[in-house]
Amino acid sequence: MTTTPVPPSLIAAPPGHHYTDPEVFRQEQERIVESMWFCAVHSADPDKPGVFRTVRVGRGNVVVARTRTGALRAFLNVCRHCGARLCLEESGEVRRAFRCPYHAWTYDLDGKLTAAPDLTRMPDVDRVEYGLVGAALREWLGYAWVCLAPEPPSFEETVVGAAERLGDPAAIEHHGTEELAPGRRITYDVKANRKLLAENFVECCHCATIRPGPADVPPEFAEGYAAQCHAGHGAGFGEDVKGFTVDGSEGFGRLPEVAADQDRRYHAITVKPTVFVDLVPDHVIPHRVFPLAEDRTVVECDWLHAPEVVASGADVPKSVELFHRVNSQDFEACERTRPAMSSRAYRRGGVLVPTEHHIGSFHEWLLGSPGVGPRRGAGGSRA
Ligand code: FES
Repeated sequence: MTTTPVPPSLIAAPPGHHYTDPEVFRQEQERIVESMWFCAVHSADPDKPGVFRTVRVGRGNVVVARTRTGALRAFLNVCRHCGARLCLEESGEVRRAFRCPYHAWTYDLDGKLTAAPDLTRMPDVDRVEYGLVGAALREWLGYAWVCLAPEPPSFEETVVGAAERLGDPAAIEHHGTEELAPGRRITYDVKANRKLLAENFVECCHCATIRPGPADVPPEFAEGYAAQCHAGHGAGFGEDVKGFTVDGSEGFGRLPEVAADQDRRYHAITVKPTVFVDLVPDHVIPHRVFPLAEDRTVVECDWLHAPEVVASGADVPKSVELFHRVNSQDFEACERTRPAMSSRAYRRGGVLVPTEHHIGSFHEWLLGSPGVGPRRGAGGSRA
């Protein structure tokens, strides 16, 4: 194992234990996932009053529900009596209130305590004060973003303003994403640390080697040539490619807000810490990452199309199949990499070659987050 300094053409990646150590993972959950805004659910998932979804955010669990007025609210999924989990299911619907399955404390859709055994004998209990604890919630791109921190950071600065890399960040606005409808959702349960997924997403050196099949829709995938994407104009489709589909066949036309010069381009945007968005002229594919353990990450991936396309029952599988294959290939690569993180050969970490140097800023950001691991060494196209 080399002990010489890293040559100037390379940047040191974090040591292997940053991908395997439960304590590093815990620190990242606390200092990053639980402190920043987290893209929790598609706004249409709770589609009417009383419908809810529960979401794991870091070490916490949040209920996102639609109230009687139609607004979305987020609450910590913790009963105020003895701390039992209030909603046990991943999704569901209540008529008027959440009833704790332990001792039946009951909360309305705004979180106010409305009923409990012997509540009349406790007239001094303030029903709002002893209601569910709320979490901050904002909607953007058609998703509900929540923040567990008592004083959330600026949404505009840390989410909207932080969308970056691998294409024009403004592309995320130009696709009218909030108007699109989920045509398909696939959930991936990946046995790898979430940082391996993030690094994979923002480099394309692997594209030439692990992309059998859909590699040449943008030829830059096959060439592993991510640099053009980094330049900000996105990756162009191949000459014979009609649409961003698994066989290059026709897609669904250009979304109304996509400019003509973006008609045949692919963009990939990251929104730290857990969101990666792929944008093509006729659909958008947000990936929401849920870090569950140092060696397990769930990714919920939506294929968003124009509502009329989804309503028509059109053949979206060809669009879905392309990126489903990309995801499957990439996540398999991440799972193959995971065991090596605890190898003696990786004790000091790997290196970033020049076309990967931009990943160094992700590592810098990660290691620079207060309380996340020791700072050592230095240290987006998904394709
Ligand atoms: S813990 Fe919920 S009612 Fe007791």
